[in-house]
Amino acid sequence: MSARKTPKAEIAALRAEIREHDRRYYELQAPTIADAEYDALQARLKALEDVHPALRSPDSPTQKVGGAVASTFAPVRHARPMLSLDNTYNEAEIRAWGDRVLKNLPPGEAPVYILEQKLDGLSCALTYETGRFVRAATRGDGETGEDVTENVRFVHNVPMKLSGCSLPETLEIRGEIVLFFEDFKKINEEEVLAGRPPFVNPRNCAAGSLRQKDAQVTKRRHLRFFVHSYGDWRPEHDLPSHSAFLERCKEMGFSVEPFAKASSIDEVVAHYERFRDEGVSKLPYAVDGLVVKVDSFAQQRRLGFTAKSPRWAVAFKYPAQQATSIVRDVEFSVGRTGTITPVAKLEPVFCGGVTISNVTLHNFEEIGRLGLRVGDRVLIERAGEVIPKVVKVVERARGGKDIAPPRKCPVCAGPVVKEEALVAVFCDNPSCPAQVRRTLEHFASRPAMDIVGLGDAAVDQLVAKKLVADAADLYSLKKDDLLGLELFKDKKADNLLGQLSASKAKTLDRVLFALGIRHVGEKTAATIAERMDLGALLRASEADLMSVPDVGPVVAKSLHAFFASEAGRDLLARLRKAGLAMAKPERLVAAGAPFAGMTFVFTGSLTKFTRDEAEEKVKSLGGKASGSVSAKTTYVVYGEDAGSKLKKAAALGVKTMTESEFERMLP
Ligand code: IVH
Repeated sequence: MSARKTPKAEIAALRAEIREHDRRYYELQAPTIADAEYDALQARLKALEDVHPALRSPDSPTQKVGGAVASTFAPVRHARPMLSLDNTYNEAEIRAWGDRVLKNLPPGEAPVYILEQKLDGLSCALTYETGRFVRAATRGDGETGEDVTENVRFVHNVPMKLSGCSLPETLEIRGEIVLFFEDFKKINEEEVLAGRPPFVNPRNCAAGSLRQKDAQVTKRRHLRFFVHSYGDWRPEHDLPSHSAFLERCKEMGFSVEPFAKASSIDEVVAHYERFRDEGVSKLPYAVDGLVVKVDSFAQQRRLGFTAKSPRWAVAFKYPAQQATSIVRDVEFSVGRTGTITPVAKLEPVFCGGVTISNVTLHNFEEIGRLGLRVGDRVLIERAGEVIPKVVKVVERARGGKDIAPPRKCPVCAGPVVKEEALVAVFCDNPSCPAQVRRTLEHFASRPAMDIVGLGDAAVDQLVAKKLVADAADLYSLKKDDLLGLELFKDKKADNLLGQLSASKAKTLDRVLFALGIRHVGEKTAATIAERMDLGALLRASEADLMSVPDVGPVVAKSLHAFFASEAGRDLLARLRKAGLAMAKPERLVAAGAPFAGMTFVFTGSLTKFTRDEAEEKVKSLGGKASGSVSAKTTYVVYGEDAGSKLKKAAALGVKTMTESEFERMLP
């Protein structure tokens, strides 16, 4: 950090730098600095902000909930340790566990067992005081977890206020936070569309989504919580059993996954086998076993705990859906942004109900980690609906062939480059047919230009017949061009032309996203388009672009490179000539946005926000900000030395509030 910088400039630079590291950590999953170095940046920023309070800003990385790495979430010591479960893997082991249970209970007292799924998510403890949600903590090491309260507020089915009377003063419910396959798939589709690597599995994705410094990200991720146990609470005092506890939780407003009862280990085994063979694949979330619990609290007390786990409960794990096969070859697929992904071609093998012959190796670092060579026998695994992955090499081939990144693009033979911050290699030729095809598919996709009828097959034909080389060419297509393709008969051709014509009205945010500029996802495109029109974008420097919230140096560089390039400018000019409106979008107000329908006027000198920041907050929450007070104004927020606007508010009977009161209204 240069000593010549003013505090203001240094703060701005640190904020940008930290945001960029956050992005690398969370979005790219490719951090480029150590946690300690990151902490040092945060500490320096905080120190500067402490010395210069006027430069504080509510959206500074120091003010965000939690932090980018584990060390920045506050530690929470669990009132009672969060234990784990012992595992059993086969019938003999579960029978041995059942025998131990019987041995430790009085003769003739056969237990009833509760059978739950073992959810493959993140353990979380929720604390309520007089029925109100006050804290959430992750499991951590079992003794101390991390405070994720603000993020858990956005886990959809976590009640903020419990129903029912006679709630204890303090109540701690424990359970699992999971992401349904359906939501996981959507998130990964978005990640890929935005040119980012997809999450490996729902668990990882749930963990990343919960430990977000920006709780709004958590909100969009649709996490869910299912109760499985309790911490600081004694339901044993007034409830007889675990099943009664679960029923009580339902009454209080929690989600409880369906459970079954069994009165013998024979029944447990039968249930396990049924689920393993048919049930698991039908569940909407990932599970990795059955949890068998003794139902009666009295019997649980008798059985007690070992140092690590209860004796009254055990996990009966489902076998992972694994198989081994030989890697016959590795091919390279080229994505929309040119990313070259190695894909292993396997000797076809049946695993988890499907035949697998291709498996992605993600990137070359992963190949290095596995030490994989062509000819090796590998163990592959498929969990739920998640794409299969190579777990490890189980048998090295003699004379196996090393897998090196290609020197030339496998599709266009153009040069291949490696980008520093990422572990991937790229084809650097924007006219590479693979990239052109994917770019057009992306351009036409629903969240982009939403051109129905321009699917993968149509794009393939248009590119193969050289009718289209980029998005602008789509708008010069004639009916005869389409009728010359196998896919298009009269009506279909008319429909596509109609769709293309209608897409010309799409606003700038959609076009910006549709262009497929690397690192520019749907949200970033919307944020930028709300603040800059096309003319401003064409003129903007990297620094101008970085003044847009959420745009860090990498995104700014990528955008700038596009708008400054001859190819980018030419494409935009042709799109404009084709009649694309690219108008500034109306700010989208989500239904139920907290400030929807409200108009705020800020007056006087604010100390906690700049005027722009305060107005931005209002807009981001669905409200309007205005410069003058009228009868339509909902609130006038005043700082020091407020004058005529405050008087006018009083005259018109408009409500007023201090800056601190306004701050408290913010979510
Ligand atoms: S009972 C004293 N029930 O598995 C243990 N745990 O290995 C109380 N888990 O950390 C936990 N599904 O996060 C229980 N139906 C279920 C579960 C479950 C998943 C997790 C839990 C725990 C880990 C134990």
